[in-house]
Amino acid sequence: MAKRVGFATRLGAIAAAVGSAVGLGNIWRFPYEAGVNGGGAFILVYIGCIIIMGIPVILSEFIIGRSTHSNMKAALKKLSPGKKYYLFTYVCILGSFVVIGFYSVVCGWIIEYLYQAAAGHLSSHTPQEYEAMFTGLISNPWRCVGWTVIFLVLNFLVMSRGIEKGIERVASIMMPLLFLILIVFCVNSLLLPGANEGLRFLFYPDFSQLTMRGVLDAFGQAFLSLSIGISCLVTYSSYFKDDTSLVKDAVTVGVLDTMVAILSGVMIFPAVFSFGVEPTAGPRLIFEVLPGIFQQMTGGYVWALLFFLLVFFASLTSTISLSEIPITFLIEEHKMSRPRAIAWTALFTFALAVLAALSFNVLDDIKLWGKNIFDMMDYAASNIFMLLGGLFTAVYVGWFLDRKVVHEQMTNGGRLKGTMEPFLIFCLRYIAPVSIVFIFLYLTGII
Ligand code: PHE
Repeated sequence: MAKRVGFATRLGAIAAAVGSAVGLGNIWRFPYEAGVNGGGAFILVYIGCIIIMGIPVILSEFIIGRSTHSNMKAALKKLSPGKKYYLFTYVCILGSFVVIGFYSVVCGWIIEYLYQAAAGHLSSHTPQEYEAMFTGLISNPWRCVGWTVIFLVLNFLVMSRGIEKGIERVASIMMPLLFLILIVFCVNSLLLPGANEGLRFLFYPDFSQLTMRGVLDAFGQAFLSLSIGISCLVTYSSYFKDDTSLVKDAVTVGVLDTMVAILSGVMIFPAVFSFGVEPTAGPRLIFEVLPGIFQQMTGGYVWALLFFLLVFFASLTSTISLSEIPITFLIEEHKMSRPRAIAWTALFTFALAVLAALSFNVLDDIKLWGKNIFDMMDYAASNIFMLLGGLFTAVYVGWFLDRKVVHEQMTNGGRLKGTMEPFLIFCLRYIAPVSIVFIFLYLTGII
């Protein structure tokens, strides 16, 4: 059994969880989902979901992880001996591969834009030219696959060298920096002509624009962004110390993650309207809008470089946490050595990621319900895997886990008040399952 050590400080533990949560989900996916789903009303549902489902599920994953100091499978075996709940771990592992499969393609796009920024190509073009630039990238299989592979090689190199901790330390400087420069970009966007229209789109909830599909997207986006539902935070919290307050940590992760997403929206949407880009552009949205934003800033060259570098690090801390799910599982449950576990995880990840990278070019006629392979993975990751995982976690902790374990973890063995416990249990038992099951039944046409 691998030796388990705790994080040296509370900040180390929190930084790792925030590092996992803050990533492309906030910067890239949140604006595009908000754009596709009509803006304000979507964001309201999103925030509601973070409060009544997201944070409670983060807490549940923390409870499972810290009470057992084990990976998901071993944890469920310890907490419910003789029961088969641990089988759900396999769904989580599959889910983690689906997420990292499409996610690493977007990380590849980020490296391409970092390169374009360094080469000085992100200036003096029109929005149409930036649109053509992105189309040029994704329709070129070599470039798409090449950048994706480069990103994954870096990711697994970091993991095989055992320097994740070092990356987390770098990230704990980069994250606040990312936060600060997002604020600078927001101010800049707000000064654009026609910025008001963007703000109105983001913050005026027009419910006629929101469909039930949009509600499902908001739930899925919240779960993906918080890194919940595929046991990632179980693995991380299994290293937490016994005296940190899980409630405080869960709320910190939820609040910081949501703030980054909203800032990203405030940076993007005034520019979307000001430059005349379609808010419904989908996954390409930020890549069409960002160059225009840098272009009209003083020192745009440096801002662009800095931005893509910070986003790159934010993505890397997310993919590290994603790959850690199968790696820890293989080491602890299948007694593999770490290098071997990394090799197997890398192999599967590469296969899926290459498929996703090729789905805009060589494989673009493989479509299901109008979605190519990338879109299907993107959709299935959040709206199926993470939501089902969230549902499982909520029902398990709310209904089946011994309440003493919950109480013990909420109060740190009686040292904290644990006033949030009734709220937690209520959300886990009723709100999360009823909302998730309702939306699934509604969309499959059963009700
Ligand atoms: N939460 C990450 C993001 O927003 C993605 C992620 C999902 C990371 C699941 C780990 C586990 O970018």
